[in-house]
Amino acid sequence: MTAPTILIVDDEKLIRWSLAERLKKEGFGTVEAGDGVTALEHVKNLEGELVLLDLRLPDTDGIRLLKQIRAVNADLPVIMITAYGTVEVAVEAMKLGAYDYVAKPFNMDELVITVQRALEASTLRREVLDIRRSQKERFGIRNILGTSASLKEAVSLIERVGRSDATTILLLGESGTGKDLMARAIHYESRRAERPFMTITCTTIQETLLESELFGHEKGAFTDARNLKQGLFELASGGTVFLDEIGDMPLSLQAKLLRFLEDKAFKRLGGVVDIRVDVRVIAATHRDIEKMIREGRFREDLFYRLNIVPIRLPPLRERKEDVEALALHFVRHYSRELSRKVTGLAPRAVEALAAYNWPGNVRELRNSMERAVLLGSDDVVTLEDLPQEVRKGVAPPERKGRLYILPREGIVFDDVEKDLVLQALEFTDWNQTRSAELLGMSRDQIRYRIEKFALVAPGREGAAGGGAGGAATALGAVGREGPPAKNGASRDSSTRVGG
Ligand SMILES: Nc1ncnc2c1ncn2[C@@H]1O[C@H](COP(=O)(O)OP(=O)(O)OP(=O)(O)O)[C@@H](O)[C@H]1O
Ligand SMILES: [Mg+2]
Repeated sequence: MTAPTILIVDDEKLIRWSLAERLKKEGFGTVEAGDGVTALEHVKNLEGELVLLDLRLPDTDGIRLLKQIRAVNADLPVIMITAYGTVEVAVEAMKLGAYDYVAKPFNMDELVITVQRALEASTLRREVLDIRRSQKERFGIRNILGTSASLKEAVSLIERVGRSDATTILLLGESGTGKDLMARAIHYESRRAERPFMTITCTTIQETLLESELFGHEKGAFTDARNLKQGLFELASGGTVFLDEIGDMPLSLQAKLLRFLEDKAFKRLGGVVDIRVDVRVIAATHRDIEKMIREGRFREDLFYRLNIVPIRLPPLRERKEDVEALALHFVRHYSRELSRKVTGLAPRAVEALAAYNWPGNVRELRNSMERAVLLGSDDVVTLEDLPQEVRKGVAPPERKGRLYILPREGIVFDDVEKDLVLQALEFTDWNQTRSAELLGMSRDQIRYRIEKFALVAPGREGAAGGGAGGAATALGAVGREGPPAKNGASRDSSTRVGG
């Protein structure tokens, strides 16, 4: 990084000269202007990262020039130079956004420190702005993908609620439907976006610890409380607290939370004074809260307090039209992240994605795509790259035309048959029903061949009685009610595809 350049604006040449000499000695670059027009020219050309601005100028006054400078570049730090007796004007300048002022005749050491501080503050400010902008980009509502009516409805609700002053929101939805994502989007769409977003999962923590995490504690409130500690509600003041898995919050703490939601005030553990804060509480759960109320595991009054604005996130299986777009988004995301060249989805893969039920919702889809991008070798995600349970959903390819060309020297038909049956079994992880479908035959037909060729899943050899001898007996035992194949029927029925 090059040293910052200071723009010195003063009508007195001697002052400009002495300032420049000192600042150069400190390692700064300098640019000088004796009047307003020249100064503004420099600002427009982005010469100078900080302005030292004299209040008295031949063609304008410092205040007017300050306004013009800020109109060109609102973030440029400006330090006013004032003569004795013009401090009021300097104060006015600070109201207009000047960083500070120094009075003539100035102490050069002090001036240098003021300059350094102003530059630091401006760098910090820029960093904070950058972080906020990137946070909003990362977590804002634009990151919620999907065009299904039910998702769009949830998103539009989030948008409206985010901007409103509603302080409690309840997010309901199965695991992986995007509750976390939505909670952040609500925060970053709201006027609270520049204040903290704090999150806590009520599941993982033991009761008193959870209580002190939320409300804080005074020094000595309990044995381990060596110091005063602020809780999340205090730390997130002006912002948002996300209570994830609220369904797992212990009943006693539910009562405390309700009191806080109603009064907007609380006491730290062991504390006597009420602390008032303005925070929005977003609670989320994948549990059936109404059922929990019936079972006495969740307070009804708290539920009604939270349920003022409920947002239900639909499971992925109820909005299948979102699957392909989401999958494509994740494929491209992971392709970039993992430096792969996968750009799309093969038609058969799309078919399988659409047929699958997605019990783990968007999270499962995302993980499947990450795996596919990582393991795949094609430039599109193919059926084979998908997890086995997803693959199962597609119908076997249609067979038409001449599939195999008989070599002139002929073949051993049994070998071909055996090889195809084996391939089907391997491809379906030894699922007989799916293998039979792939080969266009019944289960009895495939069982017959498994036994005929004594095919055994790897790792099951011992259990099968093994080897050629096994084949002979198996062959002898062929029949409609023959012994169940090695993998057993239970596996087959459990892997049947839901619709
Ligand atoms: N509509 C969506 N658009 C883009 N990404 C999504 C969407 N919904 C969920 N995701 C992604 O899916 C993953 C799971 O979402 P999230 O963690 O928000 O789910 P959750 O409902 O909080 O699940 P859990 O109940 O298990 O905590 C995240 O990576 C999230 O970014
Ligand atoms: Mg979550």
